[in-house]
Amino acid sequence: MTPADGPARMHDTLVLLGAQGDLSLRYLFPSLRNLLRDRLLPPDFRIVAVGREPLDDAGFRAWLAPRLSGGSARDAAARPELLARVHYVAADLANPQATAAALAPYADRPAVSYLAIPPALFEAACAGLQAAGLLAPPSRLVLEKPIGHDLASSRAINAALRGFLDESRLFRIDHYLGKAPVQNLLALRFGNTLMEAVWHSRWIESVDILVAETAGVDGREGYYARYGALRDMVQNHMLQLLALVAMEPPSALDADSLRDEKRKVLRALRPMRPADARADSVRGRYRAGVVDGQAVAGFEHAADAETFVALRAHIDNWRWAGVPFRLVTGKRLAERSTEVLVNFRPVSHWLFARHPHSVPHPNRLRMRLQPEENIELGLMGSLAAPEWSQSELQPLSLDLQMAAPQRRIAYERLLLDALAGDQALFVTGEEVEAAWAWIDSISQAWADAGVAADPYPAGSWGPPAAAAFLPATVPTHERPGAGP
Ligand code: BG6
Repeated sequence: MTPADGPARMHDTLVLLGAQGDLSLRYLFPSLRNLLRDRLLPPDFRIVAVGREPLDDAGFRAWLAPRLSGGSARDAAARPELLARVHYVAADLANPQATAAALAPYADRPAVSYLAIPPALFEAACAGLQAAGLLAPPSRLVLEKPIGHDLASSRAINAALRGFLDESRLFRIDHYLGKAPVQNLLALRFGNTLMEAVWHSRWIESVDILVAETAGVDGREGYYARYGALRDMVQNHMLQLLALVAMEPPSALDADSLRDEKRKVLRALRPMRPADARADSVRGRYRAGVVDGQAVAGFEHAADAETFVALRAHIDNWRWAGVPFRLVTGKRLAERSTEVLVNFRPVSHWLFARHPHSVPHPNRLRMRLQPEENIELGLMGSLAAPEWSQSELQPLSLDLQMAAPQRRIAYERLLLDALAGDQALFVTGEEVEAAWAWIDSISQAWADAGVAADPYPAGSWGPPAAAAFLPATVPTHERPGAGP
């Protein structure tokens, strides 16, 4: 995780397959514009945009320009430079020979090819790239989730990819790893003696990981019906957060050391048994409701797919024995919030008075990752108590809020790292497969135990059974079943 070594060492050709798709428009082109704006890309940087429509360079630029019109005045000033660096290639990716012929002229320099396309096209697209000479060392390949639908299909995809290039040149994206506050989890854990000393089941009682969204399935009904929140959110983003919180300290922050430790945690996740499925998990699906004051429709689909999942996970290793990790994620919830909450054990012997209003609160470390970024440490003290009752302790909160640095799109960091060849923030095939093995145990347990998705109104915190899984930071009156 060293910062990029600077433009001099970077590959300077980015081949973007799926250049007219949603991911490219929403995140990749804006990220590239921002990197150009900040002079972070190499001098001869070029983008080879690959799409289906029969356009030439000028036609594609005219198509892209109005779609990149947001942003500040500085962003707008970088747009002409971005457009000037884009070359367009029309190709049918299902046809490797045609793809190879169209892309061969760009194989004159080492390239990074980015698959922003449906997984069904991965293999044919790679065959085309390879025949064009774009996968020869030291060229690299970046790909997006979903990598499979279960362990067997992810293994098949990984095996096919390794037929084209080895793991050291494969860059699997989990965009959560590109978020600065997610990287800060590592900084907090490994940069502080205080954390090192207490990061253990001896002192930690439980951990909550919450990724709550107000957005709905919105236009991705078909995908969601097949994947559901378990495969869309838990298999990747939430398990990556869990791995960063729970991994052993790596001996260095290079890609191999870091990713080895994450893999070990993922492999230590206890598979879910059908007998535990009802106690250790909740599935939900949103119905119509009100989110941020707006009436919204429910997710209607014949498939049995969930938009909400709550899980109690156990990591069977020495550090975490007996410490539940509660994972909660859902769409159309009451608010957008991603946080990690570490709940410490109560002090071993409570010395102080217990007044009706001063209940001892165990210490709690709350790391909020989005929408705001801050760190809160819940302590007990008597600073707020009147002088004559010093022993009456009150919960105090140490609240660290940093002046917001310039917010970057997660993809900016990931694109830079892929161009520079730093794999630390990318996921290995082994991690992906370890995560799928655990996810498969859950979907099998749900099927065997007949766990259905319970309805919840959009704008709430999930179905009634979710109450036992939500972090303590969700206010009591908002929790499912709290009543009006
Ligand atoms: C994506 C999921 O990977 O992550 C989406 O497919 C989800 O369903 C999104 O909305 C959440 O990302 P972020 O960055 O908005 O928290």
